[in-house]
Amino acid sequence: MTSTFTTISELRTALKPHRPSQTIALVPTMGNLHDGHLKLVDIAKQHADIVVVSIFVNPTQFGVGEDLDSYPRTLEADTKKLNDAGVDFIFAPSVAEMYPVMPPPTQVLAGEVSTLLCGQSRPTHFDGVGLVVSKLFNIVQPDVAVFGQKDYQQLAIIRQLVRDLSYPIEIIGVPIVRANDELALSSRNQYLTDAERAIAPTLNQELNRLADNIRSLKKSDALTLVALQTLLQQTKEQLDDAGFEVDYLEVKRQDLGEVTTKEGKLNASEKLVILTASKLGKARLLDNVEV
Ligand code: PAF
Repeated sequence: MTSTFTTISELRTALKPHRPSQTIALVPTMGNLHDGHLKLVDIAKQHADIVVVSIFVNPTQFGVGEDLDSYPRTLEADTKKLNDAGVDFIFAPSVAEMYPVMPPPTQVLAGEVSTLLCGQSRPTHFDGVGLVVSKLFNIVQPDVAVFGQKDYQQLAIIRQLVRDLSYPIEIIGVPIVRANDELALSSRNQYLTDAERAIAPTLNQELNRLADNIRSLKKSDALTLVALQTLLQQTKEQLDDAGFEVDYLEVKRQDLGEVTTKEGKLNASEKLVILTASKLGKARLLDNVEV
């Protein structure tokens, strides 16, 4: 039976008897759980004795005019799913419990990587993620924490946070869980109308087509920066035509550094990732494909 706590002190008291003989995994979420989250729970269970899932719609990671107020809050249904999945503890604090002073005067700045990609249109987002994840790490003190790779940039920032603030926590990234038609699962998919939902899988299809084109240019030793820019432009046009508004579509190294060239060609030894955020109606969809 899963126990739910809304205060930091209750959760700490409940976790105390389990340390240090048992290992603890944390799965941070904002609730409205889907199979992607349940996969994170599954992986957490494989890596620790006790699993804590936090459910907190974190206001500090939402910008002005974003969907903080309308973000789906479904604690009862989430609790049932986590109980069925065998989660030990749910931590579902209020905003006042997490942030006694709002806005919180203390900041955990995510640094340069937070200005790329999603950071261009959400400039304060990753500072808010860094702050809440730091707090959750301090509250739960897990041995392991599990995050989805759909939020590729978030995962990179959390790895950086763990390195720079010396958290003794192993970070596990879990591959994207997709619907049968390959749309990446996300709580925000429910903002899609039926017609938009039918179009949405095009996003992943176009990323895969781009990945294939990059691979074949690489194979024939013809992957220059200009060729890459041309492929990216073609993909953007396909997405525009399908009805998406592309926020960004970029190819980076898997550590999110800029791709580098050698004798005019992309460095063959670099592992690449294609990343996008694209709006379809009210939903901003994230996806990525490693090449
Ligand atoms: O990925 C999310 O759901 C959130 O950004 C997280 C990590 C739970 C922090 O609020």
